[in-house]
Amino acid sequence: MAERVQVMLTEEQVDARIRELGEQISRDYAGKTLHLVCVLKGGVFYLCELAKRITVPVTIDFMSVSSYGAATKSSGVVKIVKDLDQPLIDRDVLVVEDIVDSGRTLSYLLPLLKDRGPASVKLTTLLDKPERRETDVKVDYTGFEIPDKFVVGYGLDYDQKYRNLPYIGEIVFE
Ligand code: IMP
Ligand code: MG
Repeated sequence: MAERVQVMLTEEQVDARIRELGEQISRDYAGKTLHLVCVLKGGVFYLCELAKRITVPVTIDFMSVSSYGAATKSSGVVKIVKDLDQPLIDRDVLVVEDIVDSGRTLSYLLPLLKDRGPASVKLTTLLDKPERRETDVKVDYTGFEIPDKFVVGYGLDYDQKYRNLPYIGEIVFE
């Protein structure tokens, strides 16, 4: 089945929204140093654009997680494929995600990060599909709420493709 990508959010819309979020986050963290924790791979494009718009001092670390497979899908257990390089103790952590879908990944990840002794942990996601939520996840800074469509671009992939698109597109099969 052939697929094509239909634009959902233009590059201009995404950039403008990230600029707003950067300003809001900079205000909220005034006087602090913000530790950005990026969830690879999807979060990396958003992380770079957001970090450029934040005016308080920023440090950055990365982690990579994968779902533990079909058998554990319902338990929401994810495997840490690459852990953070630095400890979180006393840091003001902002987790940077590409999308919150069922919420399973973050329901697992956020408590785990909170156990590491940070001063605070908040979450930002570029996209949120609230209709798909299966577990409760509190998002502190949302880029866009979108309908239940499969989207690509700005870090998001379909079969590892399309991450490099500078806009958010919906995959349409024809
Ligand atoms: P969760 O269901 O909230 O745990 O989301 C898990 C992961 O699924 C996200 O971090 C994305 O990597 C991926 N994902 C969910 N929805 C989409 C989508 O529409 N396009 C591409 N990846 C998605
Ligand atoms: Mg992700």
